[in-house]
Amino acid sequence: MSEQGVPVITIDGPGGSGKGTLAGMLAARLGWHLLDSGALYRLLALAAHNHGADLTNEEMLTGLAAHLDVQFIAAEGDQEQRTVLEGEDVSRAIRTETIGAGASRVAALPAVRQALLARQQAFREMPGLVADGRDMGTVVFPDAQLKIFLTASPEIRAERRYRQLLEKGETASLAGLLDEINARDERDMNRSIAPLRPAEDAILIDSSHMSIENVLETVQAEARKRNLLG
Ligand code: C5P
Repeated sequence: MSEQGVPVITIDGPGGSGKGTLAGMLAARLGWHLLDSGALYRLLALAAHNHGADLTNEEMLTGLAAHLDVQFIAAEGDQEQRTVLEGEDVSRAIRTETIGAGASRVAALPAVRQALLARQQAFREMPGLVADGRDMGTVVFPDAQLKIFLTASPEIRAERRYRQLLEKGETASLAGLLDEINARDERDMNRSIAPLRPAEDAILIDSSHMSIENVLETVQAEARKRNLLG
């Protein structure tokens, strides 16, 4: 099956394409482990903030990345996975736009990515792993059995984010969100290390006009073709 015998499905793409939701649903459907790699970069940005580290100080950030004290507590019932940093539940704190932008900055540092690589690969455990991120299929799990690259137009992604924020009772500007999405895409796609791009053997899905159920069905059909569905 693979070098380590543990199957992996990678889901890469820009933020707001629906990949987080898809990865969570797919992992639950298959009974596999879930790696939300973006959360690791977000956690590092938050840890840097808590420890007063400058986001350009590569040495200090790499040290923080190597010793990040994190626990992911699996979802139970209709609860979402919880994320704990240095003993504190930060599941919500890491989801702000500011932390997202910080994550994208620390993620551009090669030594930081290297420091987080083994930690991500350690999530590959039986019976299988669904890995969500930007470079899962290209760098972290190049031998994955199924690679998905999920996109959606920047306008649709900004709208989805806008609705999510309103539902949470927060205020937001649609134009501001679109600007942030474009700036983040620009940084993620043009960085010299592990830029956001589909693996050569990835299946491209544009979710702009698809429901999440439709996307899930499409991915399950691909998984079935590869004998990954039990
Ligand atoms: O997916 P999420 O929005 O949580 O990711 C936050 C940031 O972390 C992204 O904008 C990206 O810069 C970075 N990231 C990355 N590689 C990954 C996952 C996330 O560079 N595998």
